[in-house]
Amino acid sequence: MRILVTGGTGYIGSHVSVDLLNEGHEVIIIDSLINSKASTINKIAKITGKTPLFYQDDLTNYESIQKIFKNHGVDLVIHFAGLKSVSESVEKPLFYYHENITGTINLLKCMQDSQVEKIIFSSSATVYGDSEAKERTETMPTGQNIANPYGRTKYMIEEILKDVCASDPNFSTVALRYFNPIGNHPSGLIGEDPNGIPNNLMPYVMKVASGELKELSIYGNDYNTPDGTCRRDFIHVTDLSNGHLAAIKALETPGFKAFNLGTGTPTSVLEIVTAFEKISGKSLPYKFVARRPGDLAEIWANPSKAKKELNWKTKLTIEDALKDTLTFLENHQ
Ligand code: UD1
Repeated sequence: MRILVTGGTGYIGSHVSVDLLNEGHEVIIIDSLINSKASTINKIAKITGKTPLFYQDDLTNYESIQKIFKNHGVDLVIHFAGLKSVSESVEKPLFYYHENITGTINLLKCMQDSQVEKIIFSSSATVYGDSEAKERTETMPTGQNIANPYGRTKYMIEEILKDVCASDPNFSTVALRYFNPIGNHPSGLIGEDPNGIPNNLMPYVMKVASGELKELSIYGNDYNTPDGTCRRDFIHVTDLSNGHLAAIKALETPGFKAFNLGTGTPTSVLEIVTAFEKISGKSLPYKFVARRPGDLAEIWANPSKAKKELNWKTKLTIEDALKDTLTFLENHQ
């Protein structure tokens, strides 16, 4: 199939592009490079032996995105492109709504113009908001008590996709709700490498391990959890990527479907630090600081719907992810 991947040079998009090329699909990447690098295209080519077609463009540029659709017969779209910093979204909500929402509307309009009716959307566990239950299932309500504009853009995009599916009986959407992706391709060539000071845990750990940043601040050790630090469902990006390949089949039936992609097991922030120290053989400087506003104490996936309907489950461990992270670090020093 000819698959258009938006955000294909980003962390998750680059891993999925590799797997799609290895499966024999043709890949066309659109990425604005706002938070990634053009050199990722060469790395994808080095891993797969195939070079994806690449357009540096932003989805808010309707006319140029429309041209890309007109020039290529696209079979389906995998939509990763979007801004994802929680703190930045609080400071610049309109920027986030414009890039994420307007960008997605443009993409969907271009798809409709070119009769492309299949899309996989990179959604997030954040759509569930805060709730009493720590384990999330797809039947739970979404959109309530979401703590920030970034999270609301993911929720709103899911709602837009539901409306598009309701208006067109042939349109099919799979929203994949990611929990906390970590690790990278075992080659260590591609991985999470955000521009600037990272917001998320693993990229921060990596900068401390490489000596670029002095120490990790662990946000809160007074949560009602086994060791007092937050617990998350950390999933190896390779497992996450396989979830996208499995989702392609689910697009054969029209309508909106959502699936959790997670392991089903929570791990604490402190456990991640300790496991990283063990695998690297070096201590990782850290200190406990105040809680980060908006953080949930615990959240993990119930992944049984994806297992049942997509025949997908995770295979890799936290240790696998951390080993691959070390390879990535060694390659980038
Ligand atoms: C956040 C967003 C989520 C988004 C994801 C990817 C919220 C509540 N969470 O997930 O919507 O999909 O990023 O962008 O909106 N931590 C530290 N020190 C650090 C960084 C993180 O202790 O320097 C802790 C956090 O407090 C948290 C855990 O590590 O408990 C994971 O944080 P992070 O990697 O930012 O992911 P989430 O907050 O789970």
